[in-house]
Amino acid sequence: MIAIEEVRSRFIKHFDGKTGNIYASPGRINLIGEHTDYNGGFVFPGAVDKGIVAEMRVNGTEDMIMAYAIDLKDRVDFHLNDPAGPRTSWARYIYGISKEMQKLGVPVKGFNIAFSGDVPLGAGMSSSAAMESCFACGLNDLFGDNKVSKWDIVLAGQATEHNYCGVNCGIMDQFASVFGQAGKLMRLDCRSREFEYFPFDPKGYKLVLINSCVKHELAGSPYNDRRNSCEHVVKAIAAKHPEGKFETLRDCTWEQLEEVRAEVGEEDYTRAHFVLGEKDRVLAVCDALVAGDYETVGKKMYETHEGLSKEYEVSCEELDFLNDIAKECGVTGSRIMGGGFGGCTINLVKDELYDAFIETAKKKYFEKYNKLPKVYDVVISDGSRKLC
Ligand code: GLA
Repeated sequence: MIAIEEVRSRFIKHFDGKTGNIYASPGRINLIGEHTDYNGGFVFPGAVDKGIVAEMRVNGTEDMIMAYAIDLKDRVDFHLNDPAGPRTSWARYIYGISKEMQKLGVPVKGFNIAFSGDVPLGAGMSSSAAMESCFACGLNDLFGDNKVSKWDIVLAGQATEHNYCGVNCGIMDQFASVFGQAGKLMRLDCRSREFEYFPFDPKGYKLVLINSCVKHELAGSPYNDRRNSCEHVVKAIAAKHPEGKFETLRDCTWEQLEEVRAEVGEEDYTRAHFVLGEKDRVLAVCDALVAGDYETVGKKMYETHEGLSKEYEVSCEELDFLNDIAKECGVTGSRIMGGGFGGCTINLVKDELYDAFIETAKKKYFEKYNKLPKVYDVVISDGSRKLC
């Protein structure tokens, strides 16, 4: 995590010398359950030890936001009542979450904010959800007497993505960032929103991320396209079964998917086929974890990679290459993590294979792509909180 002294000194320097309150929110990993959240399925994330730290202070104006992105050395001031909002992409998260908190009844007025982060950007670790939940946690504290519930903060973060940032995401990232607990993964049922904490300490194994350094970008069409495909299939099934209630692919069976195959077309069928399989894989992984059966956990991770790559088509050459290296090195499980189109693989690797795997992955990746992948050991950590 970021040193809070650094954030404080920048906050003091950039504004009027006064200090504010400091809040932190993490990025996330996801063991399994990809592209299932907006399909009402299960996900299995946990918060990490990398995140966003923001210092915030009410500035006494009606709607003037003065914002400083420390890492980018970029300052943007804007009015909250301006219907267009700022153009700068990072500032849109501040604008969007402020608007969404207002909708929840929080009387947000002018404030100053400086923030810094160490979630690698475009790595599939949800730097954007970390921003949303951090800023929301601060606004709830500064203007809302902390009356907004954690779930409403999650939904406000998601609405920020939908309404101000162009990504029709699910709730996994914001959920993980807000509800995370050190040492625990969480299995969330995205339809009922029930969740359970699972202590995660696989003896004899390490969880490690390898960042392909291909920056993924979810804003724009490919992510939203996948979501549209899924919704298209649900509509087709619902039309065939007027007696049933079909809101997401979670409500659909394999047989029903087969029934609409010709009608929805091969691309949408194949995407939905991945989602149905992924739902079952999350449940299988939970059972395997409880039984301490890491071989099954790993096998399912490889199956997910295959599905994300061949069926859902959200991989890229570099991620497939990293997955192949993991296989060659005898890594127990490996797959693309997060939305895809770049970013990291998540790898479950036996302690004794760890060093050789990392060394081989770096060497071979460099030979092929002339750049070194980045390696992050996963430390499952706490969710959004006020630091001081
Ligand atoms: C992104 C989205 C999430 C989820 C994942 C894929 O991280 O923000 O809602 O859909 O992709 O599992």
